[in-house]
This record gives sequence, structure tokens and C-alpha cells, in this order.
Amino acid sequence: MDESDNYLDDEFKAIAAELWSHNATWWQDGFTEGADPEYTEQILPILADLAASGTRILEIGSGEGQVLRYLEGRRSRERLVGIDPTPEQIERAVARGGPQFYLRSGADNLPFPDASFDTVIACLVFEHIDDLEAALAEVSRVLMDGGRFHFLLNHPLFQTPDSGWIDDQVFEEQYWRIGRYLQERHTVEEVEKDVFIPFVHRPLSKYLNCARGASLRLETMLEPAPPPGFLDLAPEYYQARFVPRLLVLEFSREPRSKDEVQAERATPQTP
Ligand SMILES: C[S@@+](CC[C@H](N)C(=O)[O-])C[C@H]1O[C@@H](n2cnc3c(N)ncnc32)[C@H](O)[C@@H]1O
Repeated sequence: MDESDNYLDDEFKAIAAELWSHNATWWQDGFTEGADPEYTEQILPILADLAASGTRILEIGSGEGQVLRYLEGRRSRERLVGIDPTPEQIERAVARGGPQFYLRSGADNLPFPDASFDTVIACLVFEHIDDLEAALAEVSRVLMDGGRFHFLLNHPLFQTPDSGWIDDQVFEEQYWRIGRYLQERHTVEEVEKDVFIPFVHRPLSKYLNCARGASLRLETMLEPAPPPGFLDLAPEYYQARFVPRLLVLEFSREPRSKDEVQAERATPQTP
């Protein structure tokens, strides 16, 4: 891969929207409703645990709604809302039912008043979002003081573009190659034959510093080992159990300063 694989912002946005629509069924068939062991054995239980006390929950990039359905099935909640810019995902989420409410929207302009939620979730979404600062500012704005942001990412240190297993025939060794970790890049990757998905790679420090700038304080960081059902899919890669795929960060919304409260009062609120 060379520099030409790094798309410019506007070009990336247009391509990304088209690709998510085109591949909506690929995601729904391969990763939801029990089809993917990483979700059933790891991601959904982790989220249920982290968001156990959440009552007003927003999921950003909610796809076909599996996370909200799982949370709703375990405890009654006051409000469960999902937003996603891809119409095919919203349609499927609504068809799959439940008391959850879905809206078509991107992460960088959330159609909710300030401090509307005690919990915001983003699960495997921010690595596809172009404008990180705007999206994190929106998370911070819609969270109540002390509210929690549960942020799940493909681990940015290991899941860089061009990363993958190498079978070294000379030293008879397998190792995980890390691509250009420090280089921020907009790419379109062929994740399986003929399926092209848009990604934005950034180093971990970029995520943490932007969150800090948006008054989101890091509370917890988890790097779980891949779950058994995932490891069973490729038993020849024994070392896979030592390389995390998932990064889980939990942030709390810092209390608003007087200036912030005044600025919010002066801004017209979305109804
Ligand atoms: C990998 S899927 C994850 C779906 C869901 N969070 C889950 O875990 O089942 C990524 C989702 O992010 C959505 N997405 C892409 N760009 C987005 C953006 N700018 N803002 C919000 N969501 C976005 C896609 O439409 C897609 O539904």
C-alpha cells in the first residue's frame, strides 16, 4: 500500500456512505443475530456489564440494532436510541423490533438536546468516522455530567491497515505484522473477497487526547484476549490468543464548567 491509498476527507465521505449502504447485508448476515462469536462471547456481554446501570442510552452507529436489543433484553431502560447514517441499517433495525427508537444521522451532528443521556455507546464505529473531534464533541454534549461513554474499537495499535499474520518459513515462526501505526490514514480495505469497507486509522494517543479535549475522562481500559469461538476459527494461529483485537475504553463526562453551561444555554437546542 502506498500514499495513494490515503483518501482525502470529502472523497472519503462520499465513498464511505456508498460502501456502507452496499455492504449493509454483509454486516447483518455475518456479524449479527448470533453469527459472530466475537459479539456473542465477548462484545455483547462486556457492553451489558459496562452499561448495567444506564437508563437513558444512545448508541452511535447502531447498525441493525443488535447492541440495543441485547441491552433491552437484560433490564428495562427508560430510553434506548440508536443513530446510524445508513438507511439499510435503520430499516433492518426497525424491522427487527423492540422498544428501541432509531434515527438516521451521522455522529458529528446528533439530533438531541444537551445532556439527554446518561450512557453513550459506540461499538466498532469510530474507526469508520472521518471527523473525530466533531463526533467526540457531540458525545460530550449529549451526555449528562458524570454520564458514561463506552467506546469499543478495533485495537488501533494492532489493527492498522496492512497488519496481519506472517508465516516466516525461514525461522519457522508466526508473528503479527503491525502496519504504519503512526500514520493517520483514510483507507478502503478488502476485508473479505469483494467486500470493501472504509476505515480511518489513527494512533491511540489521538483518540485519548481528543477525548480529553472534549471533557471525557478515561476511567477504564480493557484489552480482552480474543474469545474461544474466534480462536477456534483459525486454530493454526496459536499466537492469536496473545494479540488483542478489541480495545474497550470507558470515559466519564466531566461536570460542566459555568462557561460551558452558559454557552449551552445560549445555543438553540434541537427539539
Ligand atoms: C461495524 S458496524 C457496527 C454496528 C453496530 N455498532 C454493532 O456493533 O452491531 C459500523 C456502523 O457504523 C455506521 N457508520 C458509518 N459511518 C458513520 C458515521 N459517520 N456516524 C455514525 N455511524 C456511522 C455504519 O453505517 C455501520 O452501521
